[in-house]
Amino acid sequence: MTALSAAPLVELSMDAGPSTSSGRTAVDATARLDSVLAYHTRTKHHIDRYAAGPGTLDWDAQPDPFRHWTDAQTLALPRHLPDLGIAWDALSDARPAAPLDVISISTLLRLSVSITAWKEYAGARWALRANPSSGNLHPTETWVIASGVKGVTNGLHHYQSQSHRLERRAWNDEATAPGLWLGFSSIHWREAWKYGERAFRYCQLDLGHALAAVSYAAALLGWRVQVLRLDSSEVAARLGLDRAADFAGVEAEEPEVIVALDASASLPASWLHPPQGGGHDCKAAEAATFMHYAGKPSLLDPRPLYQWPVIEEVATATRGTPPTPDPSFRRKPESSLIKLDPGLRRDDDATQIIFNRRSAQAFDGKSILPHAVFRRLLSCLLPGGSPVWGLWPHAPRVHPVLLVHRVEDVAPGLYALPRSEAALAALRETCRAEFNWDAADAELPLFQLIQAAAAKTARTLSCHQDIALHSAVTFMFVAEFDAPIAENPAAYRHLHWEAGMLGHVVTLEAEAASWRGTGIGCFFDDAGHDVLGFTDTRFQVLYHFAVGMPVDDPRLLTRPAYE
Ligand SMILES: Cc1cc2nc3c(=O)[nH]c(=O)nc-3n(C[C@H](O)[C@H](O)[C@H](O)COP(=O)(O)O)c2cc1C
Repeated sequence: MTALSAAPLVELSMDAGPSTSSGRTAVDATARLDSVLAYHTRTKHHIDRYAAGPGTLDWDAQPDPFRHWTDAQTLALPRHLPDLGIAWDALSDARPAAPLDVISISTLLRLSVSITAWKEYAGARWALRANPSSGNLHPTETWVIASGVKGVTNGLHHYQSQSHRLERRAWNDEATAPGLWLGFSSIHWREAWKYGERAFRYCQLDLGHALAAVSYAAALLGWRVQVLRLDSSEVAARLGLDRAADFAGVEAEEPEVIVALDASASLPASWLHPPQGGGHDCKAAEAATFMHYAGKPSLLDPRPLYQWPVIEEVATATRGTPPTPDPSFRRKPESSLIKLDPGLRRDDDATQIIFNRRSAQAFDGKSILPHAVFRRLLSCLLPGGSPVWGLWPHAPRVHPVLLVHRVEDVAPGLYALPRSEAALAALRETCRAEFNWDAADAELPLFQLIQAAAAKTARTLSCHQDIALHSAVTFMFVAEFDAPIAENPAAYRHLHWEAGMLGHVVTLEAEAASWRGTGIGCFFDDAGHDVLGFTDTRFQVLYHFAVGMPVDDPRLLTRPAYE
């Protein structure tokens, strides 16, 4: 048994963060920082030039969206989705923790990363999942580490979403303390196949969506989730991703993160009130490394046509540990003080809202987003406003700027929702001097920067995509950039995760109100910075997101997830 102590919040020895303890490490840190900044710059889309990508795409040669592990013991998970009977508005209520068993794991996976439907059109068939993904390419792989979970063999399992089953990858001879962890890795090629060099950014945004999806699913089970502060090399060791020989001849998997699921405490809305230490009073997590391994990963693309070495470079430069939770996060969340319209009821079943989440492919360009829905949605983006901020109890570093087109009682224009007081001050200093910064809400930290018809600007900035024009509101997620990345280059990943999490909150809140969202990874970076008046890289836009009234395509047939 080789269980390693992996207590949350414990800085492990292999932290790849910058250090001045030796000249060598300082040089490495500088090289890593340079590498990240160079990657970010070269993967910007410009109005007259897109970041480097493939010249041609053969859709029949798309990498397999599902990885299988052959010669591994498999466990078919129950496909039935239990009726949890929890209304969306009751998400934050206290509820007893679901038992640590195979049904709960199955439910957790179904509500976060499983297939939720198949779509068919003109002979083509593709799966949709609970988590969205850029280009529906799904670079994120999910791993389950189970110990003492009723109905699941102890060990490390790959989650095979195509047939909703576990493939046992590794195990130990002796039992360990009961526990359940989810691990995540990225297969860059799935995304790079289509998007070239910019693909690393999309993998990270997708991961943020997946983490957010897990936090909602866990909240419904009454479980607490916490990110383990493990260095990337420790994540790789626990998920068996560092066993290079096992991946010989197939696409490697980049270690991302492991989260612990705590089923021992029933949740008194704990994600709204994280306890001392920033929300991490889960039982000490002992995610084991393993002695015995089995299985061989499948090849996803036998004939890759391109290589994008810069992705491996930025992946190496951004390995490290997640940030430290911020103790000030314990304060009573602003969002719980905000008087939201009591008439706005969202009684629909939360599992159905999560399960039916889709990205809109088109918006109607005329419906007006009710003010109450708009305010509720914004309040959920603030610290404490969603289960996501229990999983990610850090000082907010990504802040929405909104291009409002059609929102009841809100004049069209550019608005900012700084998620911390410090960001408000810094953004005011960094943005165009002529912006008004007029308070636009009595309670929310929403500021009007300028009143203007902004829909065409939104479309132009979003790579000319009509979804940004026809939405009711288009978000630009603006990240504090230079400072966090200089402190730890791994923050480049974490800022994208946070942007993806914000996108996920927006999409689920929109869905709960019978509206819909769509992520927009394609945007012209510096054109957006020009609009905001950024003349340096203290802040950078990392993601766009549109919300509107969807127009469905009746030609698409929908089939059940698992028949
Ligand atoms: C990070 C990210 C970037 C995306 N970028 C775009 C985009 O630029 N344009 C677009 O139409 N859809 C975009 N999408 C939406 C995806 O195409 C959509 O999630 C995918 O097709 C899967 O469909 P689903 O979300 O309905 O499951 C993006 C999604 C994500 C998560």
